[in-house]
Amino acid sequence: MEPMISASILNADFSRLEEQIQSAEQAGVDWIHLDIMDGHFVPNISFGPQVASICRKITKLPLDTHLMISNPDQFIDAFADAGSDYISVHVENNPHIHRTLQNIQKKNKQPGIVLNPGTPLQSIFPVLHMVKFVLIMTVNPGFGGQAFLPETMQKVTELSQKIQAENLDILIEVDGGINADTIKIARYAGANVFVVGSYIFNNATGIDSAVRSLKG
Ligand code: DX5
Ligand code: ZN
Repeated sequence: MEPMISASILNADFSRLEEQIQSAEQAGVDWIHLDIMDGHFVPNISFGPQVASICRKITKLPLDTHLMISNPDQFIDAFADAGSDYISVHVENNPHIHRTLQNIQKKNKQPGIVLNPGTPLQSIFPVLHMVKFVLIMTVNPGFGGQAFLPETMQKVTELSQKIQAENLDILIEVDGGINADTIKIARYAGANVFVVGSYIFNNATGIDSAVRSLKG
């Protein structure tokens, strides 16, 4: 399978957001990744559903909304109505994860489950049948531009083997510190979708050549 790129706009130039998203789309990225942070679940605040609906107007690419917020149930409707296609929620600190995923299903959006680097893979097994994708964090969430943690690859390998052995229809996404080198490591481990932020939007060679180097 060709690697799919989900471009995270977290570190894009928001004064030129339309141009930045269009350049990424023209360069051939597959999804646009929206990092939603509330200052509680992660030590940073980003943006909300209003920016998601602006992105919806700018591009026809699928919007891949990654909720890093303490009460995701409260905001699923808003992000679904803003035009998200994929909505992922963390398994950590969620005592009612089945209900949260059901809320995403009810809105006819593709549900995903996310694990932080310190969270064991087994923690998502009870809900694996409910998701279309698993997002394995390759950094601790909160900021763009952090270094890829190679020890997370063991979870990617193990999940990829499980998906094959059980013939499951689930994509493996990785997020954090992905560049032209680390994408190879994550691909080899079995990941299919690669979230890339600063390598695309803060690349001295430009968005187009950055995306080409990821796909090549
Ligand atoms: C981290 C976010 C990531 C981040 C990726 O909390 O979930 O999506 O924007 O940025 P880079 O590619 O710069 O690590
Ligand atoms: Zn993310």
